[in-house]
Amino acid sequence: MEKMKLQEGLIFVAIFFLAYTQQLVGGQPQPHEGCQTRCGNVTIEYPFGTSPRCYYAEDPSFKLTCNETEKLLFGNIPAINISHNGELRVRVPPSYSCYNSRGNSSGSLYHTIRLVNLSLSTKNRFTAVGCNTYAFLSTYGVANHSFGCMSMCDSPPEANGECSGKGCCESSVPRGSNFFGVQPYSFNNNTSVHSFNPCSYAFLVENGTFNFDALEDLKNLRNVTDFPVVLDWSIGKQTCEQVGNTSICGGNSTCFDSTRGVGYNCKCFEGFEGNPYLSYGCHDIDECTSSRHNCSDPNTCRNKVGGFYCKCQSGYHLDTNTMNCKRKDVGWTIILLGTIIGFLVILLVVSFIKQKMKHHKNTELRQKFFEQNGGGMLIQRLSGAGPANVDVKIFTEVGMKEATNGYDKSRILGQGGQGTVYKGILPDNSIVAIKKARLGDNSQVEQFINEVLVLSQINHRNVVKLLGCCLETEIPLLVYEYITSGTLFDHLHGSLFDSSLTWEHRLRIAIEVAGTLAYLHSSASIPIIHRDVKTANILLDENLTAKVADFGASRLIPMDKEQLTTMVQGTLGYLDPEYFNTGLLNEKSDVYSFGVVLMELLSGQTALCFERPQTSKHLVSYFASAMKENRLHEIIDGQVMTEENQREIHEAARVAVECTRVTGEERPRMKEVAAELEALRVKTTKFKRSDQYPETEEIENLLGVQILTTQGDTSSTGYDSINNVPILDIEAGR
Ligand SMILES: *[C@@H]1O[C@H](CO)[C@@H](O)[C@H](O)[C@H]1NC(C)=O
Ligand SMILES: *[C@@H]1O[C@H](CO)[C@@H](O)[C@H](O)[C@H]1NC(C)=O
Ligand SMILES: *[C@@H]1O[C@H](CO)[C@@H](O)[C@H](O)[C@H]1NC(C)=O
Ligand SMILES: *[C@@H]1O[C@H](CO)[C@@H](O)[C@H](O)[C@H]1NC(C)=O
Ligand SMILES: *[C@@H]1O[C@H](CO)[C@@H](O)[C@H](O)[C@H]1NC(C)=O
Ligand SMILES: *[C@@H]1O[C@H](CO)[C@@H](O)[C@H](O)[C@H]1NC(C)=O
Ligand SMILES: *[C@@H]1O[C@H](CO)[C@@H](O)[C@H](O)[C@H]1NC(C)=O
Ligand SMILES: *[C@@H]1O[C@H](CO)[C@@H](O)[C@H](O)[C@H]1NC(C)=O
Ligand SMILES: *[C@@H]1O[C@H](CO)[C@@H](O)[C@H](O)[C@H]1NC(C)=O
Ligand SMILES: *[C@@H]1O[C@H](CO)[C@@H](O)[C@H](O)[C@H]1NC(C)=O
Ligand SMILES: *[C@@H]1O[C@H](CO)[C@@H](O)[C@H](O)[C@H]1NC(C)=O
Ligand SMILES: *[C@@H]1O[C@H](CO)[C@@H](O)[C@H](O)[C@H]1NC(C)=O
Repeated sequence: MEKMKLQEGLIFVAIFFLAYTQQLVGGQPQPHEGCQTRCGNVTIEYPFGTSPRCYYAEDPSFKLTCNETEKLLFGNIPAINISHNGELRVRVPPSYSCYNSRGNSSGSLYHTIRLVNLSLSTKNRFTAVGCNTYAFLSTYGVANHSFGCMSMCDSPPEANGECSGKGCCESSVPRGSNFFGVQPYSFNNNTSVHSFNPCSYAFLVENGTFNFDALEDLKNLRNVTDFPVVLDWSIGKQTCEQVGNTSICGGNSTCFDSTRGVGYNCKCFEGFEGNPYLSYGCHDIDECTSSRHNCSDPNTCRNKVGGFYCKCQSGYHLDTNTMNCKRKDVGWTIILLGTIIGFLVILLVVSFIKQKMKHHKNTELRQKFFEQNGGGMLIQRLSGAGPANVDVKIFTEVGMKEATNGYDKSRILGQGGQGTVYKGILPDNSIVAIKKARLGDNSQVEQFINEVLVLSQINHRNVVKLLGCCLETEIPLLVYEYITSGTLFDHLHGSLFDSSLTWEHRLRIAIEVAGTLAYLHSSASIPIIHRDVKTANILLDENLTAKVADFGASRLIPMDKEQLTTMVQGTLGYLDPEYFNTGLLNEKSDVYSFGVVLMELLSGQTALCFERPQTSKHLVSYFASAMKENRLHEIIDGQVMTEENQREIHEAARVAVECTRVTGEERPRMKEVAAELEALRVKTTKFKRSDQYPETEEIENLLGVQILTTQGDTSSTGYDSINNVPILDIEAGR
């Protein structure tokens, strides 16, 4: 290595230290205007420059010169081009060492290049050419090291363009090398080799730019003036992280660490171009006008900041494989889906409309029923001249449905030929009995409404109170107070209750019922004939107080004979035979029925019993014959008869028989019956005063009802003496 002659043919890169203040634009050092931007065909860009204030002031190594022959020089090395990403291409001639035929040295050229703030790029290759050659590349710096390659051959190798060891060898260049000398040597002075390879060559060259030609290059490589060599440049000595936002990289650009390992470089963002070392150097690339787009139809190209897109017409979509606009493929799945959705929507709309119509229809229907059932008339009566204090509530159909839990089976209290009674719970938690009333044709509506009004005014302690009605249903509903303890029929004959009614109870019940009927016949504003008095229609509350139920309103019989005669109704066993035969109704029919009830109370036997002998199937005849034959004790309920009350029972039995006389004329009036029974009790009373039958005080409770005190008028009337007085057909609703 002593032979190294560095001084021979040395090219020094002259570095001048020039410190100029620079214009500050956007906080970054910038070149001033009027800097030389071209030298020959090479573009000069900041941070490089040819004059002060044009190159990066803090690093004089960015100074270039452009001499008269339009050659751009880096120091004294010609520069080819400069790239933003930190590469500077220069031209460097090869080193060589030649021998003549005698083995004497006939010429040589050695290069030493010293770089400051730049280094050799690893893109370069160190290459030696020759058949008797070895070459060194030495790097000096923080640490000195040398490396090289050797090539020996007797004859010219075959030319294949590759530098693969035959007449040519190459080696990579270590990163960051910044000071190097290149020198070729010969192993000996063998003249036979010199004949086809007079010289040994060594040079640096950018990878991929040198194709080895064995025949030419072994002879005449000296004729090649230079090879391109890549140098790495960077800003400063710090990494991007270290400089942070004080880097000189401009807007729309980013900093990256230099490949040389020292300093940083800048690059524009994707989709931008320009000089990233200037504050406003990077600008958006208009890909569409610079045809840097891949849209197959340029007309579809649309530029956007940092990129572009291909915009297809509506109805078309971009096929990313061909970048073609294609008509949208409306797949059958979409069609199917669309159809299904459409169908569902239509279904929904239709059902909605149906629902609406149904609702409307329901409302209409309700309204229709309401009118049909005399709702308008009722409201008119209630608000109009009629009694001011009438307490009839008009219930809605919805309210009724809710109260009965949708007319649930479990709510049925009683069911029979005459209708169904439901237990209802009103929103205020009060319990009521709701009965479906039967109404004939429209002509009866007025009377029906009258009847509802009259019944609702009966405020008698022994009458089941009518609370209101619902007219919105086809069959009007009547709402009554709810009585808890069942019917007298159940108590006397039913299995539900053991018949523990004592004589005192029975007598009181009889008095209560008789008094109530008397009141209805004579005292109420319009005489009311119950028409279906029977034990099943007498309810008992928890105190065993009698409550007469079913003041019809179920059907109203106008006072014309035709109707009356066709409408004979009642319950077998209780039915007045006279009424049954003639079809003419009067208050004595109720007297007859009451007589049967009294007989039931006395005997504990049902009104009709087919187990009794033929002649005494009917309780009335059974009772009458027993009375006649003086064997009453046989048929009186054993539970009832005691030593003390024998006389009373006989008296009561007598009254019962009188009540059931065949001709109505012979029967006593209800008021008389009530008085007689009351007298019975008064004689041997063991009851308290409060238990007694309230004679007339209840009448005063009838609010707004015109009380007919002229008893003679009503008491003696049948249907024919007072016109237009409705007589009620009372059905057994329970
Ligand atoms: C620049 O000019 C030189 C001759 O002056 C030529 O050899 C070279 O190819 C040119 N380079 C470019 C990039 O045009
Ligand atoms: C310009 O540079 C070339 C190449 O280095 C050199 O040969 C020439 O002499 C220079 N001219 C001037 C005027 O410096
Ligand atoms: C610089 O020159 C090399 C070779 O002549 C060429 O491959 C490269 O594209 C050039 N770069 C620029 C930025 O002009
Ligand atoms: C070349 O070789 C000849 C003899 O072979 C010798 O006389 C001469 O001095 C040599 N020249 C050099 C420059 O060494
Ligand atoms: C590298 O070599 C040069 C020249 O031979 C010498 O001056 C320098 O001290 C060396 N550096 C190191 C680190 O050995
Ligand atoms: C080849 O010749 C040169 C010049 O005469 C001489 O300096 C060198 O030592 C010779 N080399 C060998 C290997 O003989
Ligand atoms: C020179 O090279 C030839 C061919 O390889 C060889 O035959 C000859 O012996 C060599 N001469 C010397 C002096 O080494
Ligand atoms: C040199 O270039 C070749 C192809 O041109 C490539 O395969 C190889 O990896 C490159 N070597 C280096 C060190 O860049
Ligand atoms: C270049 O090589 C040729 C042979 O191919 C030679 O004749 C010529 O002298 C050489 N020119 C230079 C300047 O070396
Ligand atoms: C190298 O760069 C530093 C700043 O990065 C500068 O101070 C120094 O002057 C530069 N050296 C040369 C020789 O240009
Ligand atoms: C750089 O960043 C620091 C904090 O991260 C901030 O205080 C300073 O203003 C920034 N400088 C510039 C020029 O943006
Ligand atoms: C960055 O690019 C956007 C879009 O081209 C431009 O509006 C903005 O001015 C640029 N910013 C700078 C600092 O150049």
